[in-house]
Amino acid sequence: MDQSKIAIATLELARNIIVHAMGRGKITITGLTEPRLGILLVAEDKGPGIPDVENALEGIGGSKKGLGFGLGAVKRLMDQFTIETKLGQGTIIVAKKWMCNRLTEERKIML
Ligand SMILES: Nc1ncnc2c1ncn2[C@@H]1O[C@H](COP(=O)(O)OP(=O)(O)O)[C@@H](O)[C@H]1O
Ligand SMILES: [Mg+2]
Repeated sequence: MDQSKIAIATLELARNIIVHAMGRGKITITGLTEPRLGILLVAEDKGPGIPDVENALEGIGGSKKGLGFGLGAVKRLMDQFTIETKLGQGTIIVAKKWMCNRLTEERKIML
């Protein structure tokens, strides 16, 4: 389930870079070990920025290029989510998902 959630979040962030930021960006996926095992997604672009983040997250404002539910979904699918955006400069979205407790315990034994 968590793999699917991370995959969907990555796809939505990638799609937004392509559709809304003219492809001028990148996504990095990093494994985390501190403060616990998890995955870090960083989507950064040099696009137009997001004028109203609250509306963008709630799907208000009527998306011209999609359904308008991608960003809100990313926030719900991941455990931590922050957006830093400046109009005319670009957007950085940082999202984290922690490995579930059972897998974390198993990995600790293996490490
Ligand atoms: N990387 C981005 N750069 C600029 N605007 C963005 C970016 N990502 C999202 N947005 C804005 O936030 C809105 C909501 O994003 P999203 O929920 O993914 O909907 P959709 O992509 O279907 O339009 C978009 O319609 C767009 O206006
Ligand atoms: Mg989208």
